[in-house]
This record gives sequence, C-alpha cells and structure tokens, in this order.
Amino acid sequence: MKILVVGSGGREHALVWKIKQSPKVKTIYCAPGNAGIAKDAICVDIVAVDIDKLADFAEKNAVDLTVAGPEECLVKGITDEFAKRGLKVFGPNKACAEFENSKAFTKRFLQKYHIPTAKYEEYTDPAEAKTHCGAFGYPAVIKADGLAAGKGVIIAQDEKEALAAIDQIMIDKQFGASGDKIVLEEFLTGTEASVLCFLDGCSIVPMESARDYKNIGDGNTGLNTGGMGTYSPNELFDAALKKKVQETILEPILAGMQQEGLDYRGILFVGLMIREGEPKVLEFNVRFGDPETQSVLMRLQTDLVEIMESCNEQTLSKIPICWSEDAAVCVVLASGGYPGAYEKGKIIKGLNETEGVTIFHAGTTVQGENIVTNGGRVLGVASLAKTRQQARKMVYEAIEKICFDDVYYRKDIAK
Ligand SMILES: Nc1ncnc2c1ncn2[C@@H]1O[C@H](COP(=O)(O)OP(=O)(O)O)[C@@H](O)[C@H]1O
Ligand SMILES: [Mg+2]
Repeated sequence: MKILVVGSGGREHALVWKIKQSPKVKTIYCAPGNAGIAKDAICVDIVAVDIDKLADFAEKNAVDLTVAGPEECLVKGITDEFAKRGLKVFGPNKACAEFENSKAFTKRFLQKYHIPTAKYEEYTDPAEAKTHCGAFGYPAVIKADGLAAGKGVIIAQDEKEALAAIDQIMIDKQFGASGDKIVLEEFLTGTEASVLCFLDGCSIVPMESARDYKNIGDGNTGLNTGGMGTYSPNELFDAALKKKVQETILEPILAGMQQEGLDYRGILFVGLMIREGEPKVLEFNVRFGDPETQSVLMRLQTDLVEIMESCNEQTLSKIPICWSEDAAVCVVLASGGYPGAYEKGKIIKGLNETEGVTIFHAGTTVQGENIVTNGGRVLGVASLAKTRQQARKMVYEAIEKICFDDVYYRKDIAK
C-alpha cells in the first residue's frame, strides 16, 4: 500500500513511525512533514490545509489511504473531497468534524443524549453574553465556539475578567470567526484525562489510557502549552472508571451519533474531567492528540493500518486490538521561551547518540548539513519499558545527550 500522512508535528511522526511497521505498507508520503519524518517517509511540500493539492497528489501517486493528522483539514472536509475523487481518508467527514469545529454543537449533542458534561449556554450577541456571564457563578468558563489552536478557552475569576474575555473573543475577534459565538460553561473541578477511541460508525473502541502534562512548568505551574509530555497507561483509569466511561459516555456517544445520522469513522478524542470517580466530558477532538499519541502508539501491537482500514470498512469489532503491558513515557523538548516568543534555527546535536528511545520530531527542519529547530515543541523523546520508572529513566538519560541552544523541558514527567 501507499499511505499519505497529512501534518508535520510529533503526532504525525508517531503515525508515520507506526505505519512504517505495517507489512502492508510499501511507501509512506508525508505532507509537509519535518526533518525527522523525512527519515521515515517521503516528504511532500504541500501544507495540511491545501486539500485540492493533497488530492491531486494522492490521485497522481495512487495513494491507497490518506491519514489526516490535524483538525483543520478534517474540518475543511478532506474526507468528503477525497471521496468525490474515489480516494480514501482515515478521519471523520465534515459533518462529524463539527464536533471539533463547534463547541456549541458538541454541547448540544451531549445534553441531548444525557451524557455527563458541565452546564452551558451559548451566545452570538456579546451584549447578551455580558448580561449572563455570571449565570453559573465564578470562576466562569468562556470558550470561543470554533477552532482556536488550543487558546480559545478563558477561565474568568470574576465578572471583570469575564467581560474582558467576551470583548476579546467576540468584539476584538482574537480568534477570528471562531469567536462569532461563545459557549459559557459551569466551572468543573477534578482531574483531567482523555480517552482516544477508534470508531467505525457501528462500534467505538477505546485505546489505552494516557496522561498528559499541559503546563510549561514543573509541578503543573505556568502557562498552558500544546503538551509537554505524556505517559501511558494512566493509573487513574482503573477498571471501575473504564466501565463508567464506557457505559455513561462512550456507548451513549455512539448511540447519539447513529440517532443523528452521523457516520463517524476515525479517531475521537474525548476530554474528561473526573471528580470522585465521576467522569464528565469537557470536549471532543476529531483526531489523535499530540503528544498523547506518541505514548499510546508506542504500546500498540496491532497493525495500525489494519485498524484504520477496518474503521473505514466498518469491521472494527472483528479485529482484536492488542496493547503492550509495558509503560511508555514521552518528554517534549521545547524552544526556550515557548509557549511565548522563541527563536528558531538552533542546531540540534546528539540525535544519533541516544539508545533505547524513539525520537519523534515536531518542530524541526533541515538546514544544509544540520537539523535545526523550527517550532515551539521541537522533539518528543519516548521510551517503552517494563515499568514507567524504567521508561522515564531511559528518556531522561537520552535527553542529556541531545542539545540545542535554549532547550527547555520539564523534569517531572511521569514521576
Ligand atoms: N467546564 C470546565 N471547567 C473547568 N475547566 C475547564 C472547563 N472547560 C475547559 N476547561 C479547561 O480548559 C482547557 C481547554 O478547554 P477545552 O474545552 O479542552 O478546549 P481546547 O482544548 O479546544 O482549548 C481544558 O483542558 C480544561 O483545563
Ligand atoms: Mg482540550
């Protein structure tokens, strides 16, 4: 088979790495990819949102399956556009991608199907939003309805902050048209966790659990980031919680989708807040999470391409999905300054000196003879071992050997 992976981050490198292990696969392309992906796939210079060019490429090169990494291309309808040309994509169609494109759409769905979630209201008129922003007390959660690259949620501690947040999103349009509507939510407390699932329209199969670290600083302090590390399994997911998530969340999601005529095939990422063993849904994403994917795929033993095909062919329930009992840890190396301003173009050294780890590239590019930094999150260093502590040790030992100017990483991942 010929596979095209769309995207350029750590998640896409992990997808390429896993797909490469499939005996079914002869050629892997990645658009646009990065310096690390270029060692495992043929990189193609097309950006992830240019669906027409991607389809032209897939057609011309007889690509058998295109795997959509980031949400933007799914929301733009890559699956539907490719289908018109008889091309296959792993990832939900445009109608189903609405679960990530609109937080209000998801909230309506959750409420309609009695799936536990925070109370909410939605507003398109800023004046009206301002009159009601205290409806659930404070802190209040104010969300831009549409895509905002993980920056569209503001937790307002009091009315003053809430009014400012509404201005920022709805008047100043900090997130563009994504802020034409806002969702106001009740503030939930507890521990956050996420469940990645495979869906084929008839069944929903959760993957192994992971824990991710969103804050930039040790001890979960400082600004939010795209994710600074992960490990799998997440000990929070004991048998009781798994059962509860399955029965009160995953099964009703599938039933609700079927009721709505949404033929969801691909990955669904369910973000949860768990308090005293009771999970509530925070949000849906319609693709693999980054960097959860890096840890979870390290543990996947079944051929990922076979699973993806079974999702498209609605035979997911017929294939066994096996996971390693071992623990995976992934630590992100970032550019100093991230998630604020940072410099690019720093030479990365020591990439070939590491042992026992897998290095997933995120923000890297080739410059002459060198691999240099090209983004906020630069690398994900991952390992799989009998215990989480062993995996952690291997990862941190390897990190000692990798260097670039102003490298920053958290020291407490998987501790
Ligand atoms: N209702 C809520 N109560 C408390 N915290 C919340 C709530 N909704 C979101 N958050 C916090 O904001 C973060 C981002 O919200 P989320 O809905 O996942 O949007 P996105 O990932 O698109 O930015 C969550 O990971 C969580 O920390
Ligand atoms: Mg989120």
